[in-house]
Amino acid sequence: MEWWKDEIIYQIYPRSFQDSNGDGIGDIPGIISRLDHLQELGVGAIWLGPVYRSPNADNGYDISDYMDINPEYGTMADMEELIAEAKARGIRILMDLVINHTSTDHHWFRRSRDKNSPYADYYIWAKGDDRGHLPNNWTGFFGEDCWEYDPERCEYYLHLFAKSQADLNYRNPAVLEEVKDILRFWLDKGVAGFRCDVINLLWKDSLDNGKRKLALTGLEHYCSLEGTHEILRELRKVLDEYGAYTVGETVFVTPETARDLCAPERKELDAVFSFEHMECDQYFIKWFKRKFRPKVFFDCLVKWQRELDWNSLYLENHDQPRSIPRFGSREHWKESGKLLALLLLTLRGTPFIYQGQEIGMLDFDFTRMRQLNDVESKNVDRVLRRFHIPRKLRWKIVSRTSRDNARTPFQWDAGPNGGFTTGRPWLGVNHNCAEINLASQEDDPDSIWSWYKDLCALRKEREVLRRGDFEALETGDQVFAYRRALGEERMTVVLNFSDRPAQVGYTGSLVRSNYPREGFDGALRPWEGVLLEDGR
Ligand code: NOJ
Repeated sequence: MEWWKDEIIYQIYPRSFQDSNGDGIGDIPGIISRLDHLQELGVGAIWLGPVYRSPNADNGYDISDYMDINPEYGTMADMEELIAEAKARGIRILMDLVINHTSTDHHWFRRSRDKNSPYADYYIWAKGDDRGHLPNNWTGFFGEDCWEYDPERCEYYLHLFAKSQADLNYRNPAVLEEVKDILRFWLDKGVAGFRCDVINLLWKDSLDNGKRKLALTGLEHYCSLEGTHEILRELRKVLDEYGAYTVGETVFVTPETARDLCAPERKELDAVFSFEHMECDQYFIKWFKRKFRPKVFFDCLVKWQRELDWNSLYLENHDQPRSIPRFGSREHWKESGKLLALLLLTLRGTPFIYQGQEIGMLDFDFTRMRQLNDVESKNVDRVLRRFHIPRKLRWKIVSRTSRDNARTPFQWDAGPNGGFTTGRPWLGVNHNCAEINLASQEDDPDSIWSWYKDLCALRKEREVLRRGDFEALETGDQVFAYRRALGEERMTVVLNFSDRPAQVGYTGSLVRSNYPREGFDGALRPWEGVLLEDGR
C-alpha cells in the first residue's frame, strides 16, 4: 500500500526528547506524553532512535540486547504502550535496526572471544602480523583505527565505528538467522518497519589492504557490495510477511548504487537516505568545511530528484548540525526556517522531520570540549591533538560539525531546562530556550511551528505535492525553483536562499508565502519562499 509515499515521518532521538522521571534522560513514557504534539503536527510515523539495551558508548547504536529495552528509557511494557498509543493516533513506529555491529557487551561478542564457542565466528576476527601490525590498513568512521586487540582471544576484531561497536560477520549464516529473529520479534509487537543503520556496509569482501586515502581507507572492501544486496533480499522475505517498510541509511551512494538498493523490483529496501546534499559544504569528509553554496546544494537535490523515483527527504538528523545556521540564516531565523520547511515538504519523496526542526532549534551553544558527549567528536578531537593542532582550531573544527549540535534536549517551554527534565539534563539545554521553544510558538499563527503544521496539512490535502512529478525550473546562486505536476494540477515552488531580495518571472496564484502578502508579483524578499499554483 506504500503508506510511506503519503505520510511524513518524524525522527525522535529518545535521549533528548522528553524526560518523565527527572533523571535527566529522555525516555519512552516521556515520548508517550508528547504523542499529541506529533499528532497535531500531522505525521504518520515515528522513526525511533535505538531504545534497546545498550551501554551507550554511541547512545544506543551499540546494542547489547536487541530484544530488551534500555532501562534508562523504560520497560518493554512502556514500549508496547508506546506502539499502542501511537497507533491509536494513526502513527506508526519504525525501529532503528543497527545490524552492522553490536556492542562488545552483547553476549554474542563475549562468547565470541572463545574460539570454541558457537559464537566464535559471529564477528570479524583476524590476526595481526608477528611484528605487531594490525590485520590491515583500514581506518574507521570515527577517525581512528578500526581494529582492536582482544587479549582473551589473542586476535583483533574489526570495528568500523567505535571500539565497543564490533562488526558482525555475515559470512556466518547464523548471524543472518539471528537478525531475522530480531525482525520478527519487533514486527510481532506491531512496529511498521525499520530505519536500517549503515546498511550498505554489511558485507566485507576481503580483509585486504585498501587504497590509501585521507579517510576511510578500505571502503572499497565493504561499501555497497553484492554480498550486502543478497543479505537484504533475504531479510526482505521476512519483512514482506508483515508488509513492513524499510529505509536504509546508505553511505557513499550515488543515484545508481542507491537504485540498486531500493528499486522495487530488486526487493531489497523500500527507500534510502543518501548523503550527497549533506556534503555540499564539505571537502570529502565532514571535518573539512567549505562555504555553503546554494547552487551546489540545489543541483544536487535536482540530480537526486531526477535520478531516483522516490527519495527520502531530510535536512536534519541526529548526526548532522541543525539546518538553519547551515543552509539558512541566523539573522533571518524565522524566514529561513520556514523556507527550509517549504523545501522539505514540497519535494518528491518521504519527508523526515527531525525533532526540534519544527520549532527552528539551533546548534548547541557550548564553548568547551568537556560539554560534549558524542564519541565521534571526542575521537576526532583526540586525533587532532595527536597532530598537534592547537586547541582553538580543534574546537573550531569539532564544534561546527559535532553531532551534539542536534542532540541537545527538545525545547518545550521557557521553564527550567526547556521543560525537558526536572533533573540535570544529560546534555546541556541550549540557552536560547527562553526564546526558541514550542510553548511560545503554539498560539502564534506566524511561528515556525504553525508553518510546519500548515504545510504538513497542505501536503496531505494536495496529492500533487505528494505524488506529482518533479521538474526543475531554476538552480541559481540564490534562487531555486521547481514544479510539481500531477494530471492537470501544477504547483511551482520558488525559494530565495539569500539575505538579498530577488526578482523572478514565475507566475501563478499564491498558495503560500513565508511572508504576509497577497498575490505574487515576482519580487521575493530575503529568504522568502512561495508556493504558486497554475490555473486555479
Ligand atoms: C549511523 C548512525 O546514524 C550514527 O548515529 C551511528 O553513530 C553510526 N551509524 C554507527 O551506528
